[in-house]
Amino acid sequence: MSGLSIVGGSANPALARAVAAELGVPPAQSDLDRFPDGEVRPTVRQVRGEDVYVVQPTGPPVNENLVELLLFVDACRRAGAGRVTAVVPYFGYARQDRRSREGQALGARVAVQAVAAAGADRLLVVDPHNVALEAMAAGSVDMVTAVPVLAAALSSAFAGDGVLVAPDLGAAKLAERYAARLGRPVAVVRKSRTSATSVRAEELVGEVQGRRAVVVDDMISTGGTIEAAVRALVARGAVPEAVVATHGPLVAGAAERLAGLGVRIVVTDSTGVAPAPPALEVCSIAPLLAAAITRLHGNRSLDELLIGA
Ligand code: R5P
Repeated sequence: MSGLSIVGGSANPALARAVAAELGVPPAQSDLDRFPDGEVRPTVRQVRGEDVYVVQPTGPPVNENLVELLLFVDACRRAGAGRVTAVVPYFGYARQDRRSREGQALGARVAVQAVAAAGADRLLVVDPHNVALEAMAAGSVDMVTAVPVLAAALSSAFAGDGVLVAPDLGAAKLAERYAARLGRPVAVVRKSRTSATSVRAEELVGEVQGRRAVVVDDMISTGGTIEAAVRALVARGAVPEAVVATHGPLVAGAAERLAGLGVRIVVTDSTGVAPAPPALEVCSIAPLLAAAITRLHGNRSLDELLIGA
């Protein structure tokens, strides 16, 4: 594809290579120097006049990956790129979308505005924690969804009496999107967070008794939310079959915690956390990102790829 360059940061080089391969272009030449004090300095070459896509999710280590993203965007801009799009499939800090106590920062707004301030014309994200991210941004944001990719991974094994379960109220809309694709009803857990790594399922609304259940969420971090939901389902006579999330940064022993639940865990390769635990099923979003980039490069609508209503 002429005039298009894919620049991969260090957060998920495998995904950047897979996107470039889908598009049939070689990844752009780039380097990342690391200094003894922790600073990084990227260099990009031969992007003058190009429509450049910097692929750099901001999963763990979030701050490192975010700063590297900003510097890569700046490097592309200074190297004469014609247009720069930050492709950040997992957008770290998106959960800091409101202040729960006076005196806190609004991390989502700061992070999304920093991307535009660094020189990105556009930001492409996949299933952000809160779609309000777009409203917080100073520049253009396109939000595409991996729900069709993940629903396809479920459909063969999930039919009949199955129910989709949102592990908290915030995931109810997401569960509805899966439900619309899979033609199944939705149940919702009301959770309360007791610490950074543990949550309590207070209540479960919906018919789950005797049904196969699939828990869906935007992300799994420590696994606390998922664990509480699965245990609540078991306590109410459901048969938890799978857990599905777009993003699986899996920190603080989440992989072991999830392994103990004995259910299928399905995530995408958005964050690039490696190595993936053996029990994890990983669906690639490279074709989704390539489809979005093809449309953006050709100034065509993203419509059917977007999260939608
Ligand atoms: C929160 O509302 C998110 O949608 C996820 O449910 C949450 O961030 C997952 O975190 P953890 O795996 O640490 O419970």
